[in-house]
Order: sequence, then structure tokens, then C-alpha cells
Amino acid sequence: MRDLFDGDVMEPRDVQLAPGAMLLAGFARPLEASLIEAVNAIVERAPFRHLVTPGGHRMSVAMTNCGRVGWVSDHTGYRYDAIDPESSHPWPQMPAVFADLAARAAAKAGFVDFRPDACLINRYKPGAKLSLHQDKDELDFNAPIVSVSLGLPATFLFGGLNRSDKTARYRLTHGDVVAWGGPSRLAYHGVMPLPDGEHPLLGAQRINLTFRKTR
Ligand code: SIN
Ligand code: FE2
Repeated sequence: MRDLFDGDVMEPRDVQLAPGAMLLAGFARPLEASLIEAVNAIVERAPFRHLVTPGGHRMSVAMTNCGRVGWVSDHTGYRYDAIDPESSHPWPQMPAVFADLAARAAAKAGFVDFRPDACLINRYKPGAKLSLHQDKDELDFNAPIVSVSLGLPATFLFGGLNRSDKTARYRLTHGDVVAWGGPSRLAYHGVMPLPDGEHPLLGAQRINLTFRKTR
């Protein structure tokens, strides 16, 4: 029998987080250059900004969007909006490389024909976190959520359908994709405060893309 820790390079392994929830290790890695280039082009037109929650808290994660609609939050609540409130223009189009990746990842996780119309782009600098929440502002819960991680590694929390359910922790590294849908579509999830670090391509940050079908 081979010792797992004898110095072999270990292949990243896919992990089922729960029924309907899959971590596809390194799935987006072959596209890293095009993904980063596309994010940079989007951010030129729709810069990252720190949204304010309805409760008046400034989020530590900075956000922008591409696609038909984008997720926004302000003192009136959360919503999907076709117009970027900062620029009063539509959000940048979803690049083909984003839509293709999201559809392929969803299919590998068991969700065929995923056609997202929104992509929320999150930027975590060290210390930024995302509290436990459900993605429930979409009208269509049949479609999964597909999340792509780039840059610094983070600890992802994945729980159950109730906020009080126990959460498991997963380390998400550059290129990892998580897809959750079906019985896990409304699972609570979040991200622990990002540790300091320096990523060779992205520096001291983590970028996360979440693809959603909102209607
Ligand atoms: C999200 O829940 O919108 C983002 C999750 C992540 O950053 O991994
Ligand atoms: Fe989320």
C-alpha cells in the first residue's frame, strides 16, 4: 500500500459537502488567466464597492457584478437590479468564459443546462468575511449556485437549512468551484475572515464569483 504522505504530489479531490453540494477541486484552474483578465475588465467599468446592509452595516467584502442583473444591498433591502446604482448603467455583460465555466461545473455536479443570468463578484482582503447566510433573493430555486474561488485560500462554512445547524469547514483554494442546489440549494454558508497572504497571481486578496439564475 502506498503511503499518502510519501512526498507524492496529491491530486486535488472532489468532495461532496452534502446531498446536492459538490466541491470540484481545481476545476477553474486551467482558465485562471482568462478569468482574471475578465474580472479586471468588469471592474474597470463597475468598480468594487462596499455595500451597506439594510441594517446599516458596511460589508467587509467588496462587491461588483456582471450579467443581466446584479445583486445589490442598501438601506432599503437586498435585490437584483439591472442597473448598477453607482454608474446608473447596466452591469457589464457576463463574459462567455464565465457562463461556460459555470455551466460545465454545474453539469459535473449534476445540474444540467445551468444558464446563470447574474454573477456576483466578491473581493476579500485579509480580515474580510461573509457571515452565515442563505442565497434566497432568486426566484428560481431549481437552479444551483455555482461559486468559483480565485487567489488566497479561505475557509468556507457550509451548514444546513437552519441557521443553527452545525457547519462544516472547507478550505477553498485558487481554482476551486463549489456548486450547491437541489436539497442543498438553501443551505446556510459563509466565509471565515480571510487570513493574510500573498497569492502569486492576485496578491493579498481572494476573488469569488457566484453564479445565479435569478428568474
Ligand atoms: C457568497 O456566498 O456569495 C460567496 C461565497 C464565497 O465567497 O465563497
Ligand atoms: Fe452566498
